[in-house]
Amino acid sequence: MAAFDPDKEIPRHIAIIMDGNGRWAKQRDLPRREGHRAGAQSVETCLETCGEIGVEYLTLYAFSSENWKRPEAEVSALMGLLAHFLKEKTPSLMKNNIRLQVIGQWEKLPESNQRALRKTMEKTAKNDGLTLVVALSYGSREEVVGATRALMQKAIDGEIKPEDVDATIFSEHLDTAGMPDPDLLIRTSGEYRISNFLLWQISYSEIYITKDYWPDFRREHLLEAVGEYQCRQRRFGGIESD
Ligand code: FPP
Repeated sequence: MAAFDPDKEIPRHIAIIMDGNGRWAKQRDLPRREGHRAGAQSVETCLETCGEIGVEYLTLYAFSSENWKRPEAEVSALMGLLAHFLKEKTPSLMKNNIRLQVIGQWEKLPESNQRALRKTMEKTAKNDGLTLVVALSYGSREEVVGATRALMQKAIDGEIKPEDVDATIFSEHLDTAGMPDPDLLIRTSGEYRISNFLLWQISYSEIYITKDYWPDFRREHLLEAVGEYQCRQRRFGGIESD
């Protein structure tokens, strides 16, 4: 057990692959949507905890580009949960100075979800506490392809030359432009996979995997993950400093 220490370095950016909602529900003989509903509670708890300890960015993998393959009823339950979250929680996002941002191809979401997202993003745009980044219809390969296309178009239009493209310029064409890379990547439910999430951005992230299912992941679990992060030596490919 790594104890969280508020005086040690706090990760600026935590990214989470929220996995295990379905198995959590199955264990209890409940429909999968109940797992997602319980998972939305964990989202709230993690938001509160991140705000409390001073994390700047929390990125949540809420719906991947591959999740469209799920049964229509489950997709619609997830969209319903998102709508409910935005409707119910926007006042508390305002109260807690939280800004909402979205990454992914969220133009593929139902019109009503897009409207609600736009509204909450506009409303919270000037908040300067925690930034909640929700990944919706997100896939990292698609994001990298999108950035490549945008850069190629700029080259065709004569705005840049191929030799101008470096890692900084490439990052500026990703959905996460302007955000720091995640310091800590958490995945719940014990799977050792990245699942097409922030492939470029997690190059030097510390990875924390727990067997807990997402609906069971609450305040103490997040603090445990940050405690473990605080024990890691980050070298970014260099050598240990004194
Ligand atoms: C993965 O569990 C989880 C998801 C695909 C959805 C995550 C969504 C939420 C927690 C709800 C709402 C989010 C917000 C931001 C309001 P899984 O279904 O793949 O679980 P399994 O692997 O056990 O089947």
